[in-house]
Amino acid sequence: MLLSESPKSLQRTVSIAIFSMLALLFLIQGSPSQAGTSNSLMDISADGTLLACSNRDSGTVTIIDLKDRQKVHEVEVGHDPEGVTFLGETHQLAVAVYGDDVIHFLDGQSGEITGTTQVFDEPYGLVSSPDGKRLWATLEFPGQVIEIDPSSRKVTRTTEAGQFVRGLAVANNQLFVTEYYTGVVKALDVDSFQVVDEWSGSAQDNLARQITIHPSRAKAYVPHQRSLTTVTHGSGSIFPYVSVIDTDAGEGKRRKRVQMDSLRGTYVVANPWEVAVSPDGQTLYAIFGGTDDMFVCDVLDDNYRELEYQSLLRTGSNPRAVRVSPDGETFFIYNALDFRVDAYDADSLKLSWSVQVTECPLPNDVLLGKKLFYTANPPMTSRRWISCSSCHPDGDPDGRTWQQPEGLRNTQPLFGLKETHPIHWSADRDEVQDFEHTIRSPLMGGRGLIRGPVSDSLGDKNGGRSEMLDALAAYTNSHAFRPSPFAKTGLSDAAQRGKALFFSEKTKCASCHSGPFYTDRQMHDVGTIAEDPSEKIGPEFDTPTLLGVYRSAPYLHHGMAPTLEAMLTQFNPDNKHGVTSHLSESEINDLVEFLKALPFE
Ligand code: HEC
Ligand code: HEC
Repeated sequence: MLLSESPKSLQRTVSIAIFSMLALLFLIQGSPSQAGTSNSLMDISADGTLLACSNRDSGTVTIIDLKDRQKVHEVEVGHDPEGVTFLGETHQLAVAVYGDDVIHFLDGQSGEITGTTQVFDEPYGLVSSPDGKRLWATLEFPGQVIEIDPSSRKVTRTTEAGQFVRGLAVANNQLFVTEYYTGVVKALDVDSFQVVDEWSGSAQDNLARQITIHPSRAKAYVPHQRSLTTVTHGSGSIFPYVSVIDTDAGEGKRRKRVQMDSLRGTYVVANPWEVAVSPDGQTLYAIFGGTDDMFVCDVLDDNYRELEYQSLLRTGSNPRAVRVSPDGETFFIYNALDFRVDAYDADSLKLSWSVQVTECPLPNDVLLGKKLFYTANPPMTSRRWISCSSCHPDGDPDGRTWQQPEGLRNTQPLFGLKETHPIHWSADRDEVQDFEHTIRSPLMGGRGLIRGPVSDSLGDKNGGRSEMLDALAAYTNSHAFRPSPFAKTGLSDAAQRGKALFFSEKTKCASCHSGPFYTDRQMHDVGTIAEDPSEKIGPEFDTPTLLGVYRSAPYLHHGMAPTLEAMLTQFNPDNKHGVTSHLSESEINDLVEFLKALPFE
C-alpha cells in the first residue's frame, strides 16, 4: 500500500507513525515535563506557570509567577528548608524543612500553608508521584525514605535506605536515592518499598546531594565530588564529577564518572551542586557552587562518553539549583548567596530576567564570610579546586579522615564552634582567623586575606587584621548546635541511667566533658595515639564537645572508632579515657543512649 502512495502522503504516514511511537514512549516514561521528578531546592509546576524555591538562610519558600516574571509569595516555613516539589500537575507543593523535621504543604496560588507532616529527622529531598497522590522524602539522618499521603498528610510507609540519604528521584515505578557521603545510588521498588538495586562508585565519592533522571533514556546523573584524603595538596585532593548510572543495567551494573574539570580543557570547576536535563533529553546543565559557573553539556548517545562540553556560563554567587521549564526554552539558576533566581534563554544562553527571592537575612560580615567560605575562587585559592565548604558543607563534616602532615584528622562538625574554642583536635589554633594558614597552605594555595606575614596560630592575634578574614571567622563561628532527634520526647529510661553513669565517679566522664558544652577545653592524653603511627603532635588532644555525636561517626581524632560502643570498649583498653572496663554491656548501652540524646535541651 505504502508504495503506491504519493511521496507527500508517505511523508505524512511516516510522521504519524513517528508521532504515535513518541506518544507511546511518553506514556511509558511519563511526561518529561512533569514537575518534581528529582530533588532540588527549586521546582516548576507542570504547566510551567509557577516556580518555587526554598531559601535556606531566610527560612522561607518563594513562589514566582513565571508569566508575570515576579515574586508572588514568600512564605515562612522554618529552619533550613531544602527540597521543594509541586505535587503532580497541581499548584500544591511540599517543602522539606530540614532543621525543624517537618514537611509543610503549601498552596502555590494563595501562598498558604495547608498542612504539616512531622518526621523523625532531617527531611532533605522530595519528589511526587506523577498523579500527585504520593510524596516521597529522604530523611538524611537516620537514612530513611518515607512515603506520605498528601491528602491525609500521614506517613504511610518508611524504609531504611542507607546512610545519610539525600538525593531522590522517581521514574518507572522506582525511586533512586543517593547516599551523601559515599555517592552510592540505590533503587527502591515503589510497590514493595524495598531496596532492589545498588550502584556503588569509588570509596572517595563524596557529597552526592542530588540525582536527576533522563526523560527518555535509562540514565541517572549524580553531581558529586571526590575527596582524596591522602593528598593535602590543592591540586590533588578535591575533584568535581557527574556520575552517570545505567538504571536498567543488570550484573556488573554500569556507572561512569565524568570528570568535570577535564570536560573543557583544563578549566577548573568546583563543588558540583545540582544538575538538570532538558525535557527533550539533549542537554544537561551542571552548576558549580564553588566556582560560580555552569556547564551546558550535550547528552551523547554514547555509553562511554555520555557528556560533551558545549558552553560555559558565569552564574551569581554560590549557585545551588538549576531547573528547566517544561517547554525547554528557559532555564533557571538559584544563586544562594545573591538570594536571586536568574532566568536564561536556553538557545542564546542570555540572561533574560531575574527575581530577588528573599532579602538577605544575614548580617553583612556573616554574608561576606559565607561567600568566602563557599568560594573556590581567589583570593581563597589559586587554582579554583577547593573551598572551605568542600570539606565543611553547611557546617557538616565531609565524613572523612584526612591524612594531614601532623597525623590522621577526622573532619569535625562546626556546630557550636564558638562555644568550644580552642580549635582543632590538637588545640593548635585559638581563633578562626588562624585559618589564614589553611588558605595559604598547599591545600588551598590562596594568596590569603591578610596583608603581610601571618602570626603563628597560637601567637599574636590574626583577628582584627583583615575585614575579610574577620568576616570568614564570623560566619564559621555562626553554626549553632542542632537538637538530637533522640531526645524529642525527653530522655528515655536507658538515657537517664546513662546520664547517671556519665556524671558518676564510676566513669569520670564529666571530669573532662564538663559544663554546658561537655568540654573543659583542656588537653588530655586518653590513650588514643597508639593507633596512628603517622601522629606528630599527640598524645594529648583537646576534649571535644559531645553535643551532636549521635550523627558524627566515626569517632576520635583519627576517626578509627566506628561507633560509640567501640569507642568506649575496644578503643579504651586501659581505662585512660574514662573508666569503662567495669561496665556491663547494658551499662555501656545506657551510656551510649545518653550520648546519642545530646543535646537534649
Ligand atoms: C580538605 C578538607 C578541608 C578543607 C578544605 C578545610 N577544612 Fe577545616 N577541617 C578539616 C579537617 C580534617 C579538620 C580537623 C583538623 C584538625 O583538627 O587538626 C578541620 C577542622 C576545622 C575547624 C575546627 C573545628 C573544631 O571543632 O575545632 C574549623 C573551624 C575549620 N576546619 C574551618 C575551616 C575553614 C575556615 C576552611 C577554609 C579556609 C577549612 N576549614 C578548610 C578539613 C578541611
Ligand atoms: C581525661 C579526660 C577525659 C575523660 C575522663 C573522658 N574523656 Fe572523652 N574525650 C577526651 C578527649 C581528650 C577526647 C579526644 C581524644 C581523641 O580524639 O583522640 C575525647 C573524646 C570523646 C568522644 C569522641 C568525640 C568525637 O567527636 O569523636 C566521646 C564520644 C567521648 N570522649 C565520651 C566520653 C565518655 C562517655 C567518657 C566517660 C566514659 C569520657 N569521654 C571520658 C577526654 C576525656
